Amino acid sequence: MEQLEQIREKIRACDDIIVGALAERMQHIQEIISYKKATGIPILQPEQEQKQTRALLNKLEGSEFAEFEEEILDIFKYIWKNSRRIQAKALFNYNIFLIGFMGAGKTTIAASLQEKLEMNRVEMDDLIVQKQGMSVSEIFDEYGETYFRNLESNCLIELQKQKQTIVSCGGGIIVRPDNKDQMKKNGRVVLLTAKPETVLERVRDSDERPLLNNNMNVDFIKKLMEKRRERYQEAADITVSTDGKTTSQICEEIISKLIALDNGSLQAPGA
Ligand code: S3P
Repeated sequence: MEQLEQIREKIRACDDIIVGALAERMQHIQEIISYKKATGIPILQPEQEQKQTRALLNKLEGSEFAEFEEEILDIFKYIWKNSRRIQAKALFNYNIFLIGFMGAGKTTIAASLQEKLEMNRVEMDDLIVQKQGMSVSEIFDEYGETYFRNLESNCLIELQKQKQTIVSCGGGIIVRPDNKDQMKKNGRVVLLTAKPETVLERVRDSDERPLLNNNMNVDFIKKLMEKRRERYQEAADITVSTDGKTTSQICEEIISKLIALDNGSLQAPGA
């Protein structure tokens, strides 16, 4: 029994070393963020994690720890994941609202930002669908657009409670001017844009957008986009065009523009 306690004591000593090393590691993560912010180096460097994985595997291979390779790698994946979380906390202590026309890429970009930054994510349409137990098309058909817009506004008010969340909004969130103020209370608003032709390409196979169901053509998209243009621009803290760019390029552009905005080196429109 005494022997077991002695072994446990040794494990506790290891834990102390781990905690100390993790705390030091986290401080260095903060230093990296400050350095990247000051020098303008891209914040997201996915190749860095791959490099770290390779270096770790090289170290483990053939070593006395080789039999625990899988477990150790798993632990490090967690450490890296949490490093991303710490970076995001240091950078964005607020919610990020993605707005833009249907097919501008809000859902795709929100998912990618979530993965890269380990922030929370809410898909507003999904939240509404879940709560109502009906699809967006069914809500429009049964209760009409005004009812749907009320649900959207209520949803935004509820999201005030969330922190560090990426919210992918429905394309019509800017129809109600009040919604803009709700978003700005605890968040930054990112406008994603795309050409009408790109939008059509992205949404043509979906029947989940009641406004486009009988209007799947460039002309209609162009007109509705034009009608909403001013509202989108008024709401946006930053704007990022998505045409011809990869998901990673768009995410990096969002991150660097938000940082510039927070540093005061980019003026928010209307500021
Ligand atoms: C709408 C956009 C849709 C959805 C609803 C209305 C709009 O969201 O909320 O069909 O008015 O632009 P997505 O932009 O995610 O498609």
